[in-house]
Amino acid sequence: MTMAPLTHLGDLTVAEFIADYWQQKPVCIRNGIAFEDALIAMDELAGLALEPEVESRLIENKGDIKDWQVTHGPLKEVDFNKERDFPWTLLVQGVDCFVPQVHDFLAKFRFLPSWRLDDIMISYATNGAGVGAHYDRYDVFLIQGEGQRQWQIGQTCSENSALMAHDQLCLLQDFEWHEEFILNPGDMLYIPPLVAHQGVAVSDACVTYSVGFRSPSHGDVLTTFADERSIDISADLRLKDQGFTPNSGEISAADVEGLMQLMRDQITPENVAQWFGKHSTEAKYPALDMAEDAMDLAELESIINDAYGVLRVSEGVRLAYTWQGDGGLTLFVQGEALPCPPEATAFVEAIANQWLLEVDEMAPVIVNDAAKAMLLILHNQGYLYFADE
Ligand code: SIN
Ligand code: CO
Repeated sequence: MTMAPLTHLGDLTVAEFIADYWQQKPVCIRNGIAFEDALIAMDELAGLALEPEVESRLIENKGDIKDWQVTHGPLKEVDFNKERDFPWTLLVQGVDCFVPQVHDFLAKFRFLPSWRLDDIMISYATNGAGVGAHYDRYDVFLIQGEGQRQWQIGQTCSENSALMAHDQLCLLQDFEWHEEFILNPGDMLYIPPLVAHQGVAVSDACVTYSVGFRSPSHGDVLTTFADERSIDISADLRLKDQGFTPNSGEISAADVEGLMQLMRDQITPENVAQWFGKHSTEAKYPALDMAEDAMDLAELESIINDAYGVLRVSEGVRLAYTWQGDGGLTLFVQGEALPCPPEATAFVEAIANQWLLEVDEMAPVIVNDAAKAMLLILHNQGYLYFADE
């Protein structure tokens, strides 16, 4: 499967999609993706749901919606072997962190900023199954992989939208749908944050890939920036009195201005970029084992000379970079900042932008020792690996 990002979503160019729909309104895109094969087989998806490090849920649509049963993973073999005369859905989160071909599929969405990409959730449903009417706070592309699903699109919601009484599912009490689509394999539906939607499988073996895009809440921005900055600020630095009225309980306007200045002093382009680079690349699953066998320079040079295979970003690894005021590039990977020597920037930009480099085409970006050293650091931490394809 190619790692090239999409240039078209069905008949829409990426530019048209971004101008007219992205973060604005839902759109159904027919034949958006040409699948050669399924991204994952049902038994492999079920196998992932048994693993303790994988987030999964089984939702059983038995009886009244308020009684729908949710079982959180790790699931057990018996959960799949049970005979059921009612519909059910298996949902597995972050499948791109575990399965290389699903990670490759995520790369098709690099036409959007890669720090916005969250994960691919894959659901497998039996005929009639659904997770109920709800809204997400993410942008999401819902792509039909196999079978058929009917989608209904409703109103824009908010935190004030009334929810049903269910202790595990956030389902809307009122779902005012006004558009309906049946998706076939290769069709996709883009849904902006807060837009109500409901999908119901209308075939057996209905597989949906949800490509989710996160965006930090304002509250998160403020708390995580403040947390990051406070690490570097000496506890000896204290607010200076700004001039006060004796014998007064007042917090003066000058005090408030002094506090605001103290905060403003921290909001520099360098500080914000450093914090956001680290924050936005924090691992989704920090406990994921990425260990690769350590490689030395001689082994790396021999791979480059053989000019065979590809260098890949490891599944589950988040990369981003920023150019700082002085012209230097900082690479962010799994929440760490790695300042990059100028001779290594071409390599770092190439791998962070493309996620995959053909070894036989890598020579121009890996000509010098600094680039090779950077590659070895990233490889030996398990962030990159060599593969046949
Ligand atoms: C599903 O795949 O069943 C649900 C996806 C969603 O509505 O977010
Ligand atoms: Co949803």
